[in-house]
Amino acid sequence: MEVSAKKRILSGIQPTGTFTLGNYIGAVRNWGLLQQEYECLYMVANMHAITVRQTPADLRRQTREAAALLLACGIDPQKSILFVQSHVPAHAELAWVLACNTQFGELSRMTQFKDKSARHADNVNAGLFTYPVLMAADILVYNADLVPVGADQKQHLELARNIAVRFNNAYSDTFTVPDPYIPKTGARIMSLQEPEKKMSKSDTNANSFILMLDDPDTIRRKCKRAVTDSEGVVRADESKPGVTNLMSIYSVFTGKDFASIESEFTGKGYGDFKLAVAESVISVFHPIQQEYQRILEDKTYLDDVLKDGAQRAAHIAAKTCAKVYKKVGFLQL
Ligand code: TRP
Repeated sequence: MEVSAKKRILSGIQPTGTFTLGNYIGAVRNWGLLQQEYECLYMVANMHAITVRQTPADLRRQTREAAALLLACGIDPQKSILFVQSHVPAHAELAWVLACNTQFGELSRMTQFKDKSARHADNVNAGLFTYPVLMAADILVYNADLVPVGADQKQHLELARNIAVRFNNAYSDTFTVPDPYIPKTGARIMSLQEPEKKMSKSDTNANSFILMLDDPDTIRRKCKRAVTDSEGVVRADESKPGVTNLMSIYSVFTGKDFASIESEFTGKGYGDFKLAVAESVISVFHPIQQEYQRILEDKTYLDDVLKDGAQRAAHIAAKTCAKVYKKVGFLQL
């Protein structure tokens, strides 16, 4: 029997719209780096996506696009398991059992539910409410040790931990209790227009975010228009959120620390600095975009990767699910 000494990681990303620079720095870039040290499962969370109304043809296309972009960012299907959530039935199966072990009150306290139900007041569906239960199933069905998540998903992960502990206590030890994985270089990327807010693709102002598939001129234009301040000095400071944010971006894409960035731009204006930031982003995104196009055009390859990923994921997930079904008293024939 193969025993893996490596810790297991699971993470997911919704296939709605292309990823932003913030998604790249906060999540996707790290996913690639983690593959060396951990056994990784990466999932396109298309089932979570339908908690908000989607156009079916768009969702289908965006699911492939998300997978292609993850591959282009360096997720290696030889090292990791890359799959689409709906291809592994055990997620939905386990979610039902976990829902019966989750309290209404717990779900009512989820801040993302409160936000989203306010934003989509015409469609406060039950799936939006039980969304964190499906997410708990995603994680627990693989007995993941670590889950890389952004700040907005921390509360959901905490709930997954509580559900795991509760189930283990009620039915004997079953699930690994997952820990959050906080990346070492955890720069939080803010909006280019309102640097007090997180960069988000749902922002109504398209100048506030950079998309991974933006062309070079768009990236230059968005950087040029980024909000700064009137001091005219490139230095990191709490009172200079716009400049500090651009420095974080530049630092990630060039590997330079804040001190060397400050000295690089001593005596230079924000114009030069913004241009350099744009070029650093382009130099990383351009090759990824080319690789993305190549993969997207090779549909056979892409679909084979996803079929293989689904099979490998389902193999692990089905075992956990069978164990759970037995423990809760579902008749086995
Ligand atoms: N809910 C996550 C998001 O919107 C995506 C997600 C679904 C996820 N299942 C997950 C993340 C499991 C981590 C683990 O960002």
